[in-house]
Amino acid sequence: MNNNPLPRLDTAPELRAKLLPFCRLSPGQIWCDPLTGHRVGCLDATNPGHIRQLLGDASATLAVHDPPYNLVAFPRRSIEEYIDWCRHWLRLTDQSLAADAALYVWLGADQNDGFQPLPDFMLMMREFTEFAPRSFITMRNQRGYGTQHNWMAVRQELLYYAKGRPVFNVTYTDIPKILRGYYKTVNGQRTENLERSKADTIRPGNVWVDVQQVFYRLEENVSGCYAQKPLKAIERIVQASSRPGELVIDFFAHAGTTLLAAERLGRRCFTIDTDPIFCEITIRRLEHYRASGQTGWQNGHAFQSELDSAARL
Ligand SMILES: C[S@@+](CC[C@H](N)C(=O)[O-])C[C@H]1O[C@@H](n2cnc3c(N)ncnc32)[C@H](O)[C@@H]1O
Repeated sequence: MNNNPLPRLDTAPELRAKLLPFCRLSPGQIWCDPLTGHRVGCLDATNPGHIRQLLGDASATLAVHDPPYNLVAFPRRSIEEYIDWCRHWLRLTDQSLAADAALYVWLGADQNDGFQPLPDFMLMMREFTEFAPRSFITMRNQRGYGTQHNWMAVRQELLYYAKGRPVFNVTYTDIPKILRGYYKTVNGQRTENLERSKADTIRPGNVWVDVQQVFYRLEENVSGCYAQKPLKAIERIVQASSRPGELVIDFFAHAGTTLLAAERLGRRCFTIDTDPIFCEITIRRLEHYRASGQTGWQNGHAFQSELDSAARL
């Protein structure tokens, strides 16, 4: 079995040089989906001209952003610089959203470095009085760091803000009950927690323990992407906080998970990434899904045919 055949694509210069000629977009360009009008731009989330070009006259009712977290995996800025960088894309997000809209931001808290940048980001968000804080969601990962001298860090934080009065569709889920006991009487019958978890009337709370972290054995895996979010989590957000036919934006596309969720749920998505390789992967993931029904490449990858033919030469 070929586990994750591509390395992290942002830190593999030789491979990047091979892949760039196969990418449709150069910086500043936008791909418009001929079928349902999605857009993928090789654009910068902090550039007002780029975001105007992406949106045109349209406005979105949902933003799902997963920026780099200012942790070790990315080129680090000082915390002040990082927060100021966030202000830029948040202002442009605000301009891209309708009067009634939802904003979700995934963020990390580095327990080895003052828990930055999560608390700094939350305080900064108070400057944006148009965004009212609504929920602070924690998603549980299966793998983490810090097992020898500390509690293993397995959480992913997700902030939810409301602008005006956005839609909130109640969704039901199969959240497993991880605690036994907690008896409750339902229709005169005493039931145990695990029995009640079989009902289809369980609504997700703000701790998500039912979402499988992406790894190479899952169909949705996109090899070379080091920060892919699970489709199930993004679909939950899209379903709860937008209506069919509405526009969703994501300024940090990477593996194109928000675009795929929008496609599967009948929404339109405008998404961008500064890296032409992640833009190409985002477009190919959509095309691959439409051609095969598969949500990723499991043990293969997005550039399989090109790299296989290069290897045969
Ligand atoms: C954490 S990843 C997003 C993961 C995504 N939610 C997924 O499920 O695949 C962050 C992405 O932001 C991109 N990025 C970094 N700075 C950017 C900027 N200024 N504008 C647009 N994209 C940027 C990176 O290239 C990277 O692909």
